[in-house]
Amino acid sequence: MTSGRTVGELAEATGLSVRVLRHWDERGVVSPSRTPAGHRLYSPTDVVRLHRAITLRALGLRLDQVAALLDGSDPDPAATLRCHLAEVDADLRRRRTVRDRLAEVLAAPGHDVLSTVIREMTMIGSYVHGYHETEATRLRDQAATLADLLHDGVAFPDGAHVLEPGCGVGAQTVVLAARSPGARFTALDLEHGQVAATRARVEAAGIADRVSVVHGDVHDPPGPVDHVVVFFLLEHLPRPEEALLALRSVLRPGGTITVVEGDHGATAFHPDSADARAVITCQEVLQRQAGGDAGIGRRLQPLLTGAGFDDVAVVPRTAHAHPGRPDLADSLVRRTFTAMVAGVREPAIAAGLITPERFDAGVRDLLRTTEPGGTFSYTFFRAVGVNRASPTSVNSIDEAAP
Ligand SMILES: C[S@@+](CC[C@H](N)C(=O)[O-])C[C@H]1O[C@@H](n2cnc3c(N)ncnc32)[C@H](O)[C@@H]1O
Repeated sequence: MTSGRTVGELAEATGLSVRVLRHWDERGVVSPSRTPAGHRLYSPTDVVRLHRAITLRALGLRLDQVAALLDGSDPDPAATLRCHLAEVDADLRRRRTVRDRLAEVLAAPGHDVLSTVIREMTMIGSYVHGYHETEATRLRDQAATLADLLHDGVAFPDGAHVLEPGCGVGAQTVVLAARSPGARFTALDLEHGQVAATRARVEAAGIADRVSVVHGDVHDPPGPVDHVVVFFLLEHLPRPEEALLALRSVLRPGGTITVVEGDHGATAFHPDSADARAVITCQEVLQRQAGGDAGIGRRLQPLLTGAGFDDVAVVPRTAHAHPGRPDLADSLVRRTFTAMVAGVREPAIAAGLITPERFDAGVRDLLRTTEPGGTFSYTFFRAVGVNRASPTSVNSIDEAAP
């Protein structure tokens, strides 16, 4: 008779259910042999593998990752574990935001605590812009529209190594690389889908030989690097000062950081409309509830200085669309700004911030500013700081160049 343990016996011994063991078999995590009658029979080797799988699952790794690690088919187990560490860190930060918000709500006296908690908690952790194709298109339009305004004067010397955290779909990456043809870039994003999109864009642009795209967290950046460029990332972080400290720690002495962020408070348009302003407020509130700040532009100077950067210089850059600039009316107002705020329609209505009718009226009014006689302006803030101090800790990436 063949020796081994049945699925029922193993379920009892390990505390996993029979259903889970069957599922793990189907997913190739632990696939035992079968008896002539078709029943699973776990050999001592299978049992050892199962215990190792349970340990890796307890770390939070996905089943396909566990299977590949145990099969020895993962080409770089350390890289998989590093990625996982970044995800665990991001999760811890999200939980800290939830914890802080919960404490704030409970500390505020005299209101409907339960409703407030439910409303706030449902929105925390949701990236305000989302990761759908419309947003990817918007980011590409935004980068193309604002390239001259925001990248003007941003160029890095030949041979410099530049880090771009929060690269999104690579919309700014290709502009940056085109303007610094002798520099080397590492673009990084927390979301795997964004990393894949940036890689595809970089390959299509024919610059993959000097632009490497990696998965990672701005709070644990790779380095050392000569320069850092950040576009529209700090506005989404609950504690941007921590990200800036981390970035400074990987900057070589004398290296610079360039940060570009918007500020919704610096939006001005004609004809004015209370509904349009209410729509913009929805976006600001949702972003704040997700831990970000849509008005971060005005805070860049103190943020960079507080993180220890020297010689911090900030320039406001205003894009002004008017009948003499029909191109901007389309690209800035329609496809960049209105597309962004219109993207929060469903969560804003679901959160009870606005009625569907008022939201739609506000979006119509924003678009009205692109009609004859209308104007619209938005101010971006570009800050540059220098790192005069030595880096303190570094995850080396120089040897992992593309
Ligand atoms: C508004 S998009 C900006 C993308 C790009 N910089 C641009 O301007 O087109 C922000 C990006 O930051 C990424 N992100 C958010 N939190 C991050 C973190 N902690 N570390 C790295 N990337 C992060 C998001 O996944 C998203 O792709």
